[in-house]
Amino acid sequence: MSVLRIRTYPDDILKKSAGPLTNIDGNVQTLIDNMIETMYAAPGIGLAAPQVGESRRLLVLDVSNAEEKFPLFVLINPEIVDSEGKTESEEGCLSVPNYVSKIRRYDKVLVRGLDRNGKETEIEADGLLSRVLQHEIDHLNGILFVDRLSRIKKEFFKKRYLRAMKT
Ligand code: NI
Repeated sequence: MSVLRIRTYPDDILKKSAGPLTNIDGNVQTLIDNMIETMYAAPGIGLAAPQVGESRRLLVLDVSNAEEKFPLFVLINPEIVDSEGKTESEEGCLSVPNYVSKIRRYDKVLVRGLDRNGKETEIEADGLLSRVLQHEIDHLNGILFVDRLSRIKKEFFKKRYLRAMKT
């Protein structure tokens, strides 16, 4: 296994909608293992394939913390099939280092996709798990959390962030 390089804003691959994964072969299994290792090494709680330069609909996530343990999820071609409520909370992203902002998202989601063996799976999520699922699925659609900021906040982010990158 190896730790992969994480692409950061404004890398073009992060703006691209990823294609569905049709053949879950050995190369995909290796990519999944490398993504898991990369996520834990960062450390992060979720990682989508485009963030490591692979424009495919694949994500890994583990929102466990000291108080609560969750399973490690691997999702292929995930889709939000149902949602409920709205909630706002602070968010960050491994592809946008050193920036956090409050983002409004669904409170609860029902996500369907395939696990790493190609078996259909369903996750009913609320709280942080729901938020991270929505954030990672956004990555598969070429959307970063900063794209969800208000126009004014987004302009402010761009100016400040791109200036900071140059120094
Ligand atoms: Ni992210």
